[in-house]
Amino acid sequence: MTLEELNKQIIKCEKCKLCKTRLNVVCGFGNEKSEILFIGEAPGRNEDEAGLPFVGSAGKILDEMLQSINFKREDIYITNVVKCRPPKNRDPKPDEVDSCREWLDFQVEIIKPKLIVLLGRHSMERFLPNRKISIDHGQPKRLEGMVYYPVYHPAATVYRKQVLEDLKKDFLKIPDILDKIDKADLS
Ligand code: URA
Repeated sequence: MTLEELNKQIIKCEKCKLCKTRLNVVCGFGNEKSEILFIGEAPGRNEDEAGLPFVGSAGKILDEMLQSINFKREDIYITNVVKCRPPKNRDPKPDEVDSCREWLDFQVEIIKPKLIVLLGRHSMERFLPNRKISIDHGQPKRLEGMVYYPVYHPAATVYRKQVLEDLKKDFLKIPDILDKIDKADLS
């Protein structure tokens, strides 16, 4: 299956109640052959309207971070744990994350990334449960043949200078992590 074929199924999804309030399903955006998959939390209002991930203020910060390591959106793939906007941008509920579980699993299977960057605590919880983003950010974890890299969510940096500094630092480590994965040099 290709991502295009998968997306045709995702946009028809009615597995949870978010389908009743969404304007658009936000499947993801980017390069299907990317070595890196970025996973955020859920679409916000701008993303719901545009049908694209990270187009609002968090997206601007994400673009700056990508630029710092010479990546463009077209080079990578970006999606979210939950594909439809939770009303009033509330946190996604466990049943909503579960309903979307299969879609995200299929996306990982098709893209086969070398590295999955987990943007924020909800994304981290989906793959590396029961950890704390304030402790685990910036530390790659190898698990069942995949390398996960939790970092702060770009939106968490607003008005929090130290969090922004940490996010910048963590992004700058990404090229080195990719290199280490190539050399099987990552425990
Ligand atoms: N925040 C997210 O986690 N995802 C988006 O697509 C936009 C904002």
